Amino acid sequence: MTMDATSRRYLMCRPTYFAVEYAINPWMDPSAPVDAGLAMRQWDALRGIYLDLGHTVEEIDPLPGLPDMVFAANGATVVDGRVLAVEFRDPQRADEAPAYAHWFERAGFEVHEAKHVNEGEGDLLLAGDLLLAGTGFRTTAAAHDRAQEIFGRPTVTLQLVDPRFYHLDTALCVLDEDTVAYLPDAFSPGSRAALRRLFPDAVLASAEDAAVLGLNAVSDGRHVVLPAQATGLAAALRDRGYDTIGVDLSELRKAGGGPKCCTLEVRS
Ligand code: ARG
Repeated sequence: MTMDATSRRYLMCRPTYFAVEYAINPWMDPSAPVDAGLAMRQWDALRGIYLDLGHTVEEIDPLPGLPDMVFAANGATVVDGRVLAVEFRDPQRADEAPAYAHWFERAGFEVHEAKHVNEGEGDLLLAGDLLLAGTGFRTTAAAHDRAQEIFGRPTVTLQLVDPRFYHLDTALCVLDEDTVAYLPDAFSPGSRAALRRLFPDAVLASAEDAAVLGLNAVSDGRHVVLPAQATGLAAALRDRGYDTIGVDLSELRKAGGGPKCCTLEVRS
């Protein structure tokens, strides 16, 4: 089977002010050292992979005092050129929301206010015509209803139950229009059953692969950029015909983020 890649437009934020200064998820330990220079080189390597694949990468200016702003996936959700702004659960990240909203306004997009806690593409993932919507830790179910109103895509609420997988994009990856990979144990029994019905051929990830944030991956329909440590998942994806590209984001993982967290897809 040949898989088709489509060229993508991504927004990223350079980790100039990246640090682990507070703990809002179980990956974050403010007492553990972070190598800021290495974080920058790893992020640059991720950006370089996208450029080599022929994707467009735009950058939003990082702001001092916002060490998690590198996680651009949390900055908005963009479908059909419509932008749903975000509202963070935690006060430490609150000021990122207007920064991302202004970037989109300046770029000429119609921006809709969040109205509810909603952490963007961290929890709202477009899979074909469906919007898969995570809740349980960050984004609220009320935000799912709002997303359906704004985007007019059937929105499927999925309950996350494991605090290590606090955003949907740490537990599930959209591979193409009709395939996903996910960690079943990260979801409630009902959500797991719903995922089985929607995606009977999904790639099921192991606990080991999820534990290195392997599911925090970015696919263009053919190439899947994922954490280099997720070797089992990479092999399973290659068996299905995807080309896998491993990237080491060890420093960003100390904040609970991987490739997908650093990447916001701008869909026009
Ligand atoms: N430290 C950040 C937080 O807890 C990490 C965000 C990761 N982003 C993501 N899309 N999963 O909010």
